[in-house]
Amino acid sequence: MPAPALTLSAPAKLNLHLRVVGLRPDGYHELDSVFHTIGLADTVRLEAAPEVRLTCSDPALEGPANLALRAAHALRARAGEGRGVHVRLEKRIPPGAGLGGGSSDAAAVLKGLNRLWGLGLSPEALAEVGAGLGSDVPFFLVGGAARVRGRGERVTALAPLAGTWCLLVHPCVTLSTAEVYRAWDRARAGVGEGAGGPAGKSPVAARGLTPTPDAPIMTRAPDKGAGQAEADLLAAPVNDLEAVACQLAPEIGTALAALRDAGGRDARMTGSGAAVFCLADSRAVLEETRNRLAAAPRWNVWMVPLTAAEGP
Ligand code: C5P
Repeated sequence: MPAPALTLSAPAKLNLHLRVVGLRPDGYHELDSVFHTIGLADTVRLEAAPEVRLTCSDPALEGPANLALRAAHALRARAGEGRGVHVRLEKRIPPGAGLGGGSSDAAAVLKGLNRLWGLGLSPEALAEVGAGLGSDVPFFLVGGAARVRGRGERVTALAPLAGTWCLLVHPCVTLSTAEVYRAWDRARAGVGEGAGGPAGKSPVAARGLTPTPDAPIMTRAPDKGAGQAEADLLAAPVNDLEAVACQLAPEIGTALAALRDAGGRDARMTGSGAAVFCLADSRAVLEETRNRLAAAPRWNVWMVPLTAAEGP
């Protein structure tokens, strides 16, 4: 009889909107962001095995730092020794692109092992384990569209943008998230000093990072219909990390300009980069944009729908 096994899809995400609204005492940044899963996904297969191990279609990602492997170890530590799994990862989401591939793989492992090992852990308990692995993991336990705040642990589901398509361009430079946030800190410190000097200010104010109220465009009032909330959500989106990421990797700016030129519409970076995207209500419109896109030969381009949550 074959060992029990499960196959899960681990989708990538876009940050439709990302504001850095403060610096936390733990050194992480306080975010106010809207995440949305898309139809580009890794495949995670979990097979019962004597020990925890991981193999990957990209052997370079098989080391102990792999978040999916760390997720399996973290859940076993919680569930008790004597359990094992062979995690088989089929990667399609490029790493270091701001698409959350590693975090999504980890969330799929947590959800899948909860079932495979019959643990019966609540969504809250899984989110707690997930938050210990990486800031984006709690979102991927939910998926679809969500407003994400705090370090990433405060996830509020939103109605997904049904029928919306995304043209996604990865200019094939890889950025470290930590490096982008450090560049953001340096840039904001410069702004703070230029505006009167940091002496005597709180660490947040000294860096020119004033915690701002929740961005009103993201507020989903209970009495609003999903349509209105979605319209609000896309009214004035930004990515606060885009400028510093473009300084670190100018090819991101080149890709953004190419997308804007080809589509005549707004384009943005996702997360800490380096992938960029534009959205449209129709696939046909984006087909035209794609045909006009002056993409460098090494860039990767996808056209995928925004997707709803898949359920627990
Ligand atoms: O949590 P995660 O490991 O994904 O974060 C990677 C790096 O990104 C952190 O080490 C930190 O430097 C930065 N980060 C941050 N604020 C966040 C999320 C990530 O400063 N909210």
